[in-house]
Amino acid sequence: MVQEKIITILKQNDDYLSGEEISRKLKISRAGIWKNMQELRKKGYQIEAVPHKGYVLKSTPDKLLAHEITAQLNTRIIGQKVIHFDSLPSTMDEAFKQAMEGCVEGTVICSEQQSAGRGRLGREWSSVTSRGIYTSVVLKPNLMATDVAKLTLLAGVAVYEAVKKMSDINCSIKWPNDVMVEGKKLCGILTEMNAQMEQVKFVIVGIGINVNHDANELLDEATSIQAEIGQPVSRVTMLKEILRSFDHWYQTMQQKGFDPIINRWKKYSSTLNKRIRINDIEGYAQDLDEFGGLVVRTDNGTVVKRMSGDVVEMEM
Ligand code: BTN
Repeated sequence: MVQEKIITILKQNDDYLSGEEISRKLKISRAGIWKNMQELRKKGYQIEAVPHKGYVLKSTPDKLLAHEITAQLNTRIIGQKVIHFDSLPSTMDEAFKQAMEGCVEGTVICSEQQSAGRGRLGREWSSVTSRGIYTSVVLKPNLMATDVAKLTLLAGVAVYEAVKKMSDINCSIKWPNDVMVEGKKLCGILTEMNAQMEQVKFVIVGIGINVNHDANELLDEATSIQAEIGQPVSRVTMLKEILRSFDHWYQTMQQKGFDPIINRWKKYSSTLNKRIRINDIEGYAQDLDEFGGLVVRTDNGTVVKRMSGDVVEMEM
């Protein structure tokens, strides 16, 4: 908390600020200020100290530090608490642990790197250090387990809108939740839950986005924001936009149900009204069902529904 306050004060001042002044403002000793400055430097903040002048902030680390994310976030639920790690096996497991220990709803876990990042259908999620956003959000919705797939669609809408706010990338959502740019994957979303007797206890929504990866750090079938627009973007700003959009749609869901979200999803999706292949079936993706499943009309006229699987969208 003290460190967050120090950073806020330093950011408000372009010029040197004496230790005495900071100490007076925060009502802690000069020694306390010095100790916290050391800690902040360890986190990567470049703070210059000049005798008789004081402290000045030279640069902020390119990390998803909790204080950087929560500053002026202005959300109601999502991001009430943010926990940052330099490395984790997977943010999903850490979020699960926090949820089991009773963390507040909307807690966000982010990590610069994951050694065992995972995707849907048991796949691995490559997590190049500090290039992407690897985050998991803890939700405690009052929902039945059968409605949870729609939260994944909600997260897809939130990411889509954040990407659009940050860039003019021509992206779309491939069912159920991949944010794609011209057939290449920019973002994946993984939803896991803990439920008892069909009643949801908590849901973890994991989001992985390729942000500042160079082309050579990506698989052939993947892309990143940087690869698309030719320059890096601030991961902090990007994550804040995602959390704001997530918060907006999550509150909408609580107040009005999923309909407004499903409507948005349909607007942003590239899958509907296309010929597709999903696992062993080929046909026309005609709609979403009431649980967020994909409704496919096959060539012999049979209508089938799928709740999971890999979609290949065919050219029309
Ligand atoms: C997919 O497209 O298959 C989903 C990928 C989800 C990846 C994210 S990265 C943050 C969170 N932690 C994980 O281990 N996975 C999700």
